This record gives sequence, structure tokens and C-alpha cells, in this order.
Amino acid sequence: MFGKKKNTPSIDSEQLELIENAQRRVKQKKRLYIHFVIFLIGSVFLILANTVLGIGEDVKLFGKEWFLYAIFIWLFLFLYHLFNVFVTNKFMGKDWEKQQLDKLVAKQQNRINKLKEGFLKEEKLMAQSKAYNEVKPSEKNPDTSKKKTSELTLIVAAGENDAIGKDNKLIWHLSDDLKRFKQLTNGHHIIMGRKTFESFPKPLPNRIHIVITRQENYKIPEGVIVVNSLEDAIDAAKNDAQPFVIGGGEIYKQAMPLADKIELTRVHHSFEADTFFPKVDMSIWQETNNTFHEKDENHDYSFSFLTYSRR
Ligand SMILES: NC(=O)c1ccc[n+]([C@@H]2O[C@H](COP(=O)([O-])OP(=O)(O)OC[C@H]3O[C@@H](n4cnc5c(N)ncnc54)[C@H](OP(=O)(O)O)[C@@H]3O)[C@@H](O)[C@H]2O)c1
Repeated sequence: MFGKKKNTPSIDSEQLELIENAQRRVKQKKRLYIHFVIFLIGSVFLILANTVLGIGEDVKLFGKEWFLYAIFIWLFLFLYHLFNVFVTNKFMGKDWEKQQLDKLVAKQQNRINKLKEGFLKEEKLMAQSKAYNEVKPSEKNPDTSKKKTSELTLIVAAGENDAIGKDNKLIWHLSDDLKRFKQLTNGHHIIMGRKTFESFPKPLPNRIHIVITRQENYKIPEGVIVVNSLEDAIDAAKNDAQPFVIGGGEIYKQAMPLADKIELTRVHHSFEADTFFPKVDMSIWQETNNTFHEKDENHDYSFSFLTYSRR
């Protein structure tokens, strides 16, 4: 009752196959050996039949006894048998077939794996672009993207050579441009770099200032929002239907790929400067408004109000 359970030997299919194969090979070699012995005895018998018993004494082919041809043909058949056992069965037998089949299967598997990898990569890219489109309308197919509720707008005045400032100051004074700036940004969030903020004598009335700096304890007047990245600045203005990025050069450069609109006052003159507005890529942006303003007694330069929207 409490005796040990008898261990029944178990052989897996691979081992069984090996054993069967070995048995088959032994049988093939045995048959070859028997063939060899019969061949030897048979040959001796044929020689004796002709020379001792005189069977077919007169039968000659091309001047040679018939048994020589018989033995020669038999030898050929034996060699063919030998070849079958040691060459055909060994290299091109069932094992060989199986090996070739395994190779083919491995090759196919490899191809399937590569295809799978390709699909996964494609899927990942599609997922990424979907996530991107949900944040920002695609440049080519804005209609297919989720509708954005706010319109991030860059507002800037730049010379013909894209100059916007020198020594942390504006290079010109154009009263109508300032009036337009005030009118457009009135009541909105205005996002700016720390240097631009410091170029103002005091915060502008009726606008929410968001200042971007990498400094941890940057001191600012009450009511001004300080953030440490452009993303945080945009987030702080998310309830505004049209937040404005008002400069300077560093911030325009970072914000341009995220912007939906550009309000550019192009001052028709080239200026010496140390800060520049990034080039407006016309393959991405299209001009939707262009209003020219002549040079006059209040304006030292002529200029144009240009509006760009994404294509
Ligand atoms: N013509 C125009 O329409 C116009 C408009 C605005 C300004 N401007 C001119 O532009 C010039 C100023 O531009 P600017 O390029 O020198 O400076 P800016 O863009 O106004 O400010 C640069 C500063 O912003 C902060 N900052 C930039 N990228 C940041 C990031 N990713 N994360 C956190 N903080 C970041 C850094 O502040 P910290 O150093 O404190 O870390 C950096 O020093 C002035 O000459 C101004 O008059 C012209």
C-alpha cells in the first residue's frame, strides 16, 4: 500500500525517432552485407559452373567467358546498392528531407517574424502620430485632427532681415504698430521670455503676463505668472481662446512649431540687430492678410501688417 510507485520509462518522440532511424540503418547495412556475401558466393559459383561443370563453355562474348559479364553486371548492382546505403540514404534519405524541411520552415518563420516586427513598428508610429495629432492639428490635414479650442498666436515686428531687437531693446518706434499690438492682445494672456519681460518699464495693463525663465526663484511683480518652460506657459493660458507669444527671439523660435497663427509687422528696412525672428516657412504658412502702411511723419519706416495661418 505504501510501496514506491513503479517508474514507467518514458521516451519522447525525438528519442523514438532516433532509435527507429538507427534500427533502419542497421537493417540497411545488414542487407548490404548479405548482398556482399551472396555476391562473393554467387561469383565463385558462376566461375565454377563455367570452368568445372562446363556450363555454357562455348558461350563467349567478344572473346570473353559469359560469367565475366555476369559477375561484372552483378558487381555493378552491388556497387549501386552500396551507393544507396552510404550516400543516397545517408545524405538524401528521410533525415536529409527532414533537415531541408526544417530549414525551409525556419526560413519562413524568420520572414514571418520580420513582417511582424514591421507591423509593430508601423503600429507604434501610427499610435504616436495619433497622439501628436490630438495635441496639435496636423500641418497637412488639420480637418482630420481633434479641434483645438485655442489659437496660439505669435505677434512680432521684424525688419526685412528678420531683425527684432538689439541690446534687449526694440530698434524702432512705430506708434500704429504699438496700437495694433495693444488692440490684438487686449484681455489676453501674453507669453514672453524673461529678457523681453525685463525690457518693459512695467507690466502692460489689462493682459495676463506669463514669463518663462529657468531660474527657480525669479522675483516678479504681483499678478505676473512665472513658469519654467514654454509648455507650462501654454498650459497656464489654456483657458484663453487666443493666447499670444510676444517674444523674444528665443521664445519665438521654440513656439513657432506650436503656433497656429502669426501676426507679423514687417518693417520695410534692414536693421543691425542681435536678436532675430525665425524664417517663416511658406510651405507651412500661408499669408491670409497683408495691409501696407506708408512711411509718414509719425513713422520712420513703411511697414505691412501680415497675418499667417497654417496651411
Ligand atoms: N520686435 C519684436 O516684436 C520683439 C518682441 C519681443 C522682444 N523683442 C526683442 O527681443 C530681444 C529679447 O529676446 P531674447 O531672445 O534675447 O530673449 P527672450 O526670448 O525674451 O528671453 C530669453 C530667456 O527666456 C528664458 N527661456 C528661454 N527658453 C526657455 C525655456 N525653454 N525654458 C525656460 N526658460 C526659457 C531664459 O530665461 P532665464 O535666463 O531667466 O532662464 C532666457 O534667457 C530684445 O531685444 C527685445 O527687445 C522684440
